[in-house]
Amino acid sequence: MINLKNINKYYYSEEETLHVLNDINLNVKAGEFIAIMGPSGSGKSTLINLLGFIDKKFEGTYLFEGRKIGDYSDKELSSIRNQSVGFVFQNFSLIDTLTVSENIELPLLYSGLSPKDCKGRVLEVLEKVGLQDKINKYPKQLSGGQQQRIAIARAIVNHPKFIIADEPTGALDSQTSKDILSFFQKLNREGVTIILVTHDEETVQYCNRLIKVRDGKVIEEEVLT
Ligand SMILES: Nc1ncnc2c1ncn2[C@@H]1O[C@H](COP(=O)(O)OP(=O)(O)O)[C@@H](O)[C@H]1O
Ligand SMILES: [Mg+2]
Repeated sequence: MINLKNINKYYYSEEETLHVLNDINLNVKAGEFIAIMGPSGSGKSTLINLLGFIDKKFEGTYLFEGRKIGDYSDKELSSIRNQSVGFVFQNFSLIDTLTVSENIELPLLYSGLSPKDCKGRVLEVLEKVGLQDKINKYPKQLSGGQQQRIAIARAIVNHPKFIIADEPTGALDSQTSKDILSFFQKLNREGVTIILVTHDEETVQYCNRLIKVRDGKVIEEEVLT
């Protein structure tokens, strides 16, 4: 599904050039559940933003389903992003002034679904994350774990081809983290491809492949069983 070939990326400032991704080669197959680990500042977020079509300023080739990302216009890329990727972040990134239902609907509005279909989809994913009763609440009325479940509902509502999760349990206590990771594992067993950044060794046991990143390089790839 994803094929990165010799990816290099630099951040330029007046004082220095930072070689943030250094010759990354990576293939992701549909159905994988990948953990990415590495020290803070090693380039993990930069790498997954690139994977999620947020960033197209890089050298090298990114093939998504056999097509070169560099060939798409920004508009096409936004549309591919909306259709293909779901994002989950450490701080949930929900919009506090919108209800749970409105937050989840956001990605659907871009895809031009009818209001009736939107409502159906929102109910479907809320049921999936077990929070149907929170449909009219605001994010701040929910616990951290519940907010993250809503963020996951938003990430899957468009039936994405893969999910990118940047330290999704970083702000949660250990039991809530386990619940969230079990939920990701369940989604993965239903066929959703997941790429997850973590600091925590224990998270790896939920995944089926581990990629270690250091100084912008992939230093180790391990297949877990
Ligand atoms: N927009 C940016 N401009 C300049 N430097 C950046 C930017 N984003 C990240 N960096 C730098 O790139 C390096 C890698 O960052 P990041 O990908 O966020 O690492 P990680 O997620 O592994 O902590 C860090 O040194 C960071 O300071
Ligand atoms: Mg990061």
